[in-house]
Amino acid sequence: MKEVYTLDDLASRDILDAGCEKPARLAVIGWPIAHSASPRMHQAALDAYGIDCRYIRLEVPAGHVADAFARMRALDFIGTNVTVPHKFDAMAACDVIDPLAASLGAVNTVKFDANGLTGFNTDGPGFVAAVEHDFSVRLADLNVLIVGAGGGAGQAIATQCLMSGVRHLVLVNRSVEKIVALQSKLQAINGEVRIEIVGLDDPRLVELSQQCELIVNTSSVGLNPADTCVLPTSCMMSHHLVYDTIYKPAVTPLTALAKSIGCRTSNGFSMLLRQGALSFQHWFPGTEPLPMMEVALSGQS
Ligand code: ATR
Repeated sequence: MKEVYTLDDLASRDILDAGCEKPARLAVIGWPIAHSASPRMHQAALDAYGIDCRYIRLEVPAGHVADAFARMRALDFIGTNVTVPHKFDAMAACDVIDPLAASLGAVNTVKFDANGLTGFNTDGPGFVAAVEHDFSVRLADLNVLIVGAGGGAGQAIATQCLMSGVRHLVLVNRSVEKIVALQSKLQAINGEVRIEIVGLDDPRLVELSQQCELIVNTSSVGLNPADTCVLPTSCMMSHHLVYDTIYKPAVTPLTALAKSIGCRTSNGFSMLLRQGALSFQHWFPGTEPLPMMEVALSGQS
């Protein structure tokens, strides 16, 4: 079993499954992909359910998503997960798009069956399930601040918040011009929701953040050990629930500061887990893979 497969490995079953007991019929595609934790959690659930299937990492260069899907279908794959940078191309390559995925503008889960290629998005629902579980709240009851709203993850989570019934959204980005179009798009979906956009250096940020109960970091700030807290300290208050979508490191400067002032915090581990479980359920309806996946992921270094 290789750590990472390439498109060339999809030339035939003999090549793809050489030296392996189970046939590869599920994958995660991305570029790069070697870091992905998805095989670990999905394989645990597949094995627990006795499903004769291997879940592999497949490295796919930009521009080759449709080709990858065609090759997987030819080899009778059940489906695939899709990660950076292919979530938009995957949507374009599907025959049918689930309405939520269409609204979010990204596909992270594809199912291959008699209907062709159906694209879903489980990142958004995974985020909602993670926040509601980790903080024992209903997302719709919260005013939400999203920092890093201009990135791909931030735009999807902002859209998901709107779809979930959030009534007040504060979208924050270092470069505020990158979220002007997002604000218009969201406002067009629901004109009654209060949506504010602010730059990180905007003096209104302190007051707006104090009006929110949930702070979500979707920026990449916190990934590097040298990073500092993405939000100014004056924005953070003890009533805030703070969710950082980064899970490596498990504690970022944002969540460290939040904890130190008494906030409840959580990180993207729970979102990773829940989006994975929801993907699995698209491929295998009626299953409950979350407990097995959680054990498998928790054992990871
Ligand atoms: P994508 O997810 O689309 O690949 P990205 O370029 O990786 O996006 O950036 C993700 C988010 O992190 C963006 O909101 C980005 O802010 P800008 O739009 O202003 O670039 C944010 N980000 C990255 N580095 C940052 C930093 N040092 N300070 C604040 N925000 C930062």
